[in-house]
Amino acid sequence: MDVMRIEGGNTLSGSISVSGAKNAALPIFAATLLTEETCVLENVPNLSDIRFMAEILEHLGAEVEQTGPTTWKITAKDISHRAPYDLVRKMRASVCLMGPLAGRLKKAEISLPGGCVIGPRPIDMHIKGFTGLGMKVDVDKGYVFLDAEHACGNPIFLGGRHGSTVTGTANVLMAAVLTPGKTIIECAACEPEVVDLCRMLVSMGADIDGIGSPTLTIQGVDRLTGCKYSILPDRIEAGTFLIAGAMAGENLTVTNLRVADQAALIDKLKEAGVPLTIDSESSITVSKSSVPLIPVDVVTHPHPGFPTDVQAQMSTLMSVTPGISIVTEKIFPNRFMHVPELQRMGADIAIEGPNAIVKGQQKLSGAPVMASDLRASAALILAGLVAEGTTWVLRIYHLDRGYDKIDDKLRAVGAVIERLPEKDMPQDLNPEAA
Ligand code: EPU
Repeated sequence: MDVMRIEGGNTLSGSISVSGAKNAALPIFAATLLTEETCVLENVPNLSDIRFMAEILEHLGAEVEQTGPTTWKITAKDISHRAPYDLVRKMRASVCLMGPLAGRLKKAEISLPGGCVIGPRPIDMHIKGFTGLGMKVDVDKGYVFLDAEHACGNPIFLGGRHGSTVTGTANVLMAAVLTPGKTIIECAACEPEVVDLCRMLVSMGADIDGIGSPTLTIQGVDRLTGCKYSILPDRIEAGTFLIAGAMAGENLTVTNLRVADQAALIDKLKEAGVPLTIDSESSITVSKSSVPLIPVDVVTHPHPGFPTDVQAQMSTLMSVTPGISIVTEKIFPNRFMHVPELQRMGADIAIEGPNAIVKGQQKLSGAPVMASDLRASAALILAGLVAEGTTWVLRIYHLDRGYDKIDDKLRAVGAVIERLPEKDMPQDLNPEAA
């Protein structure tokens, strides 16, 4: 296993480019199962989650080939309807296979993915959606069994306690495009990744109205064709780099992003006093302020609200912003695994229910810290960039699930960061050493 070593206190400047979006690419890979024709996907990020998804598609019988650094070709001619636990457990997003398999094969058997450190992640709304489409749904021995033989279009409401559901919307949408009749999804997720999936499906011949709105109207079609589709830029990776610029940047330009997808973060960064210039629709330049930032309160919401996937990184920024800020997590109320690790670096953060009360310090100090999930890992990398001394981030396989070569990208703009085998870190600093 590798660890990341970061020497804090270096300035980031130059240009850093954003890769394709993981959370768009994963359901889009699953959507290739909806046709027996070939789909060519471009701007695919280089991530372990993508490789897991490719492995699962291959297991299901698809021909999957990476034809270039960011291009994949997938042909799902003869496919099976069953995704077993040993594959699915590696990645939660494999729930997205249910919709396409039920849509195309009229049946699916998918293992439930199991626990998740960011809190309970039920799939009751996915099941409600499938049932609403007239499918017979059984959950037995850790598997979900879908029988879509008599499925037909219907109105379906997909709102829950925490708002809409991103992969739930994707799942019902992918089933509905090949289900006879008209499906209306109310309270559909409006995240850019869902919009991207809709666009990909339309390029395959799907009939979808209301794309980007909370009401999606889908008229089922008999078959879909292959497509060539380029995945949108990753707004969470972009947000992470913008925050890195706010913490340590001197004219750090984040390119290949979509400014329109960053509205909530830009608003908060400006409120905090971060010097930020929108250069174009796809580029933002950000610097560390020469005067202390102003603490800001942040509440996560479904899109276009402040994204939960940037909450941990924003908490790191606030932990070095003198004063008190409150970060409230409304989507996954337990998503604070980064906090105990940031505390080890000197951050003063108290958790009260879904709120993190952050008392900003002038500085953090480098320490060995443990990554626990993807965004928590990113928060620790950001902390390491500004901490005094050396930070060692362990269990970085979490980071590799969702950040495409983050160490290379940060090093190219001035960070001192390197990936090492765990055995090369001083063993007296390694909490996992025997
Ligand atoms: N929820 C239910 N029942 C359901 C589905 C969701 O109660 O059937 C609840 C969840 O527990 C949560 C809220 O609804 O409280 C929203 O969950 P959602 O279904 O939208 O999340 P998701 O689809 O499982 C995706 C992303 C997450 C991201 C969330 C929220 C993918 C593969 N994952 O998860 O990304 O945090 O939407 O935007 O798209 C990440 O990339 O690090 C990550 C966790």
